[in-house]
Amino acid sequence: MWLPERSEALLLLKEHIKADNLVKHCVASEFIMRALARHFGEDETLWGLAGLFHDIDLEEVQDDMSRHALVGSQLLEKLGFPAEGVNAVRRHNDELGEPMETRLDYALSAAETITGLVVATALVYPSKNVADVKVKSITKRMKEKRFAANVSRERILLCEKIGFPLPDFVTLALSAMKEGAEELGLAGH
Ligand SMILES: [Fe+2]
Repeated sequence: MWLPERSEALLLLKEHIKADNLVKHCVASEFIMRALARHFGEDETLWGLAGLFHDIDLEEVQDDMSRHALVGSQLLEKLGFPAEGVNAVRRHNDELGEPMETRLDYALSAAETITGLVVATALVYPSKNVADVKVKSITKRMKEKRFAANVSRERILLCEKIGFPLPDFVTLALSAMKEGAEELGLAGH
């Protein structure tokens, strides 16, 4: 079973992903997934790595969504990443048509999606500091369809499938991203 150290995992990710904002999206997903794993008493390393690696093929498939997550999950499988994580990575792309089954599957989709809403909300603040963002601003933004319109509200609400009412999920995600603010470039300027 392959569960690399974080430094090794980050190196691998950066070999595949050159766009800095995409690396940050993956790291943000990692932080939220770790927090969720802690909440559920699940394997924090596995969940964190699933978050970190979920979009590892995005530059390779050049946004061809019919291959996205398929190529990445095959790479991870070959490396020996646990099947549960491989499946979650593959299932996070709806377009592949494979239904989500496990808590990890739902967690990954909800987590990786809320990162976009948190970042967009933080960047509206003059400080551009995620530390200034309140849970309420995110839940308000959830209802503004035109704000960060590409962020699927429906996918964020998958949190309910794993027992999180939206405000609780926002609270967890926001505090996880505050924890990673420096690395995410969201610590203000
Ligand atoms: Fe993603």
